[in-house]
Amino acid sequence: GKRVGILTAGGDSPGLNAAIRGFGKAAIGHHGMELLGFRDGLRGLVEDRWQPLDGSALAGILTIGGTILGTSRDKPHKMVVDGEVRDMVPTIVENYEKNKLDAIVCIGGGGTAKNANRLMEAGLNVIHLPKTIDNDIALTDTSFGFSTALGIATEAIDRLHSTAHSHHRVIVVEIMGHKAGWLALGSGIAGGADIILIPEIPYSVESIAESVAERARIGRNFSVIALAEGARNEQDTADLAAATALVKGASTPEAKAAANKHKEAVEAGHRDNPFKLASALEGATGLESRVTILGYVQRGGTPDANDRLLGTLLGSAGADLVAQGEFGVMVASQAGRAVPVPLGDVAGNLKTVPLDDPWITAARGVGTGLGD
Ligand code: F6P
Repeated sequence: GKRVGILTAGGDSPGLNAAIRGFGKAAIGHHGMELLGFRDGLRGLVEDRWQPLDGSALAGILTIGGTILGTSRDKPHKMVVDGEVRDMVPTIVENYEKNKLDAIVCIGGGGTAKNANRLMEAGLNVIHLPKTIDNDIALTDTSFGFSTALGIATEAIDRLHSTAHSHHRVIVVEIMGHKAGWLALGSGIAGGADIILIPEIPYSVESIAESVAERARIGRNFSVIALAEGARNEQDTADLAAATALVKGASTPEAKAAANKHKEAVEAGHRDNPFKLASALEGATGLESRVTILGYVQRGGTPDANDRLLGTLLGSAGADLVAQGEFGVMVASQAGRAVPVPLGDVAGNLKTVPLDDPWITAARGVGTGLGD
């Protein structure tokens, strides 16, 4: 049988263990493979830290949050080793050969897709499984983790309504999602947020204040605002775009370093975004305004039924692909089916919310403010 390594990388997300189990049970039970679980993402491959995964290691993990393998955000080509940033791809290739691996399965999000693609370019047989609460991976309808996080954020918005209407307050709730608005938009619609702010639509504080004040005029003297962590007002959006363009346009390593430093400073200046928004709204409307940051609550705990199903479906399909010797692909979910798509088409392509997305149309349809 084939010897296959498996790892989880990037932020933890509900459904990772369901995917490990789905892949593992099919790989071992159905295809007679041997499975090595590498620890802490790509770092485990570099440091050759792994544990054998047999049937008993995979038993009872379906419902557990996080990942039994541990994770990290380490990049193979730029890894901090002994206090120095180094290209560890050659070490990964060595360990892959030393362990006589036939394939390596990387479970992760957009960043991991890029890293998996780098390993593929270095000659390894790679399969990628799409995980993220952000729903921003290209070429797949969805990714495991998103449905659970959507449920948690929706419930949080429901519960925040209690305090908002009882105390006549504005509550700005910050929702994760990286540079995409899927999680804030989906939970904002499902939780009936009054205003939803996403990175794809730069907002105007005046327009939000006007909506809040208008609600107050008709007797609804409270508002719940779902704010995606990546959403910015028009000025901050423009500043960030300019800083990003400087980084892209930098032609020398020195210019690039300086541009990166400038971009980091711009981003650091946005860190108190929800608080700035709340205080501007309080000033403009006279309504007491507060902030709730959902943070890691959104990605913790047991996966919901959708994410267990998706992890199992994509995991077991991944094992079939390894058995057939089909590599260099991500196992995408398209119209309910597991479909292999070229890893090179996924890497570096984030899926943000299109402005004509049906969720945007629905939000506007029910009168939700989008800040523009
Ligand atoms: O990608 C998942 C995610 O939770 C994003 O929504 C968020 O931007 C990021 O990870 C935060 O990750 P961490 O704090 O673990 O680096």
